[in-house]
Amino acid sequence: MKRISASFLPPIALDSRRKIPLYSQLYEWFRRAILDGQLRPGQRVPSTRALAAELKVSRIPVSSAYEQLQAEGYLETFIGAGTCVIRSIPDDASKPAPGKMRDASRQASQSQSPRRVSRRVTLMRVPAQTWSNKLVAFRVSLPALEHFPSGVWSKLVNRHSRRPTRQLMAYGDAMGYMPLREAIAEYLGAVRAVRCEPSQILVTTGSQLGLQLSAQVLLDPNDRVWIEEPGYPGARHALMSAGAQLVPVPVDYEGLNVAEGIRRARSARAVYITPSHQYPLGVTMTATRRMQLLNWVARSGAWIIEDDYDSEYRLGGRPIPSLQGLDAGARVIYVGTFSKVMFPALRLGYVVVPKDLVDAFSTARDATDQFSSTLYQAVMTDFILEGHFARHIRRMRVLYMERRTALVEAVRKQIGDKLEVIGAEAGMHLVALLPAGVSDVAVSKKAAELGISAMPLSSCYLKPPAKGGLILGYGGTDAQQIHDGVRKLRVSICP
Ligand SMILES: Cc1ncc(COP(=O)(O)O)c(C=O)c1O
Repeated sequence: MKRISASFLPPIALDSRRKIPLYSQLYEWFRRAILDGQLRPGQRVPSTRALAAELKVSRIPVSSAYEQLQAEGYLETFIGAGTCVIRSIPDDASKPAPGKMRDASRQASQSQSPRRVSRRVTLMRVPAQTWSNKLVAFRVSLPALEHFPSGVWSKLVNRHSRRPTRQLMAYGDAMGYMPLREAIAEYLGAVRAVRCEPSQILVTTGSQLGLQLSAQVLLDPNDRVWIEEPGYPGARHALMSAGAQLVPVPVDYEGLNVAEGIRRARSARAVYITPSHQYPLGVTMTATRRMQLLNWVARSGAWIIEDDYDSEYRLGGRPIPSLQGLDAGARVIYVGTFSKVMFPALRLGYVVVPKDLVDAFSTARDATDQFSSTLYQAVMTDFILEGHFARHIRRMRVLYMERRTALVEAVRKQIGDKLEVIGAEAGMHLVALLPAGVSDVAVSKKAAELGISAMPLSSCYLKPPAKGGLILGYGGTDAQQIHDGVRKLRVSICP
């Protein structure tokens, strides 16, 4: 225990055996002494050198404590006159000490009634998740990670990180790295019939940011937006976080029911849609419905947010061209991602923005998180330009076709009397409808207990559906896991 003479300051007790660092003990001592009036407003305090010598400690903790006290307005320094207690005590002087703050936050987290957060976030709360999100059989949105060409990828990462250019290390363009934008524009033009120039491509950290930015740029609070019922919960959240009012529009075997949408909300500001491969049902929107939708937006001035999240994996027949490519009125915002074709943790995606909205999207991106990692954008560019991307997609298409066939076959043989498979023509998942009256939530809970993931179809509905089902991902589920997983599914459905 060290003491300083009372003739100058009240005694300061510092204990180097305590876990609290010396600078915190000193800071706390001065703060208390000022608030309690032991140190008077305007009173000079010793210099850091003198106090350190007095306490027989190094100057570092004393300087740190003084800096903190100055930053918080308890002390002030005058050139030539040294450091003094502030003449008027700061407004927040009654702020509780850190220890008390910890107690307060513990009490708050234990209190029964939840504290107030924004209405938007409250509305976004979803019922407790009953299905497993572990990387196990049938996990949705999980690609075959073990087949990713990591050797090639790591060489490309090394190439760029060994001697990074200044451009790679400095702040980048909010719209993204131009060589990648050029590569994406060319790829989308060739494969998805998207009509755009590289200047219209905004590189994102995945579709989710694309949806978030679209909502931010296009919508004002309380604007009505059609969403697919059932639909992608992530899109609902992005739209709700912009304060949108969601209008669920049913999806049938032709895709979104446009006539019903018009009946429910003719003057909606926007529509969120997955036309190539409806999430989660897997339906492809028919040409007639596409034209109906484009005609409605042309008349009403609404926007279309087209989410083309896994269009690369059309397992039978040729890819369906995008809605963006059909639209003559530049009313489509096209959102895509590399999460499924590469790997989700890469966090790279893109938005194709109508020309007149480029500035607005760029500003919104800048305000959100500025831009995506330039290093990975550069690596991704080489991965595309050197042909690895197209090769990987081709290989995965064959693999996913095999996995889909194995899953459909195993379900048919083992639980064909209980499950009706739909939406197995594209992507990395299918839907298996349960018999009427069987709760998909209960089945998903049981499946999670057995170590498999079976996402309930009802989690994609705003209103409870007439029939439940299971969304089964097969992209990241190999033959052995499919075999064992279907057996466990049968037990979950008929215990
Ligand atoms: C329909 C749909 N859109 C978007 C996404 C989001 O993907 P990302 O990882 O690019 O944010 C997913 C992910 O599962 C999805 O299923």
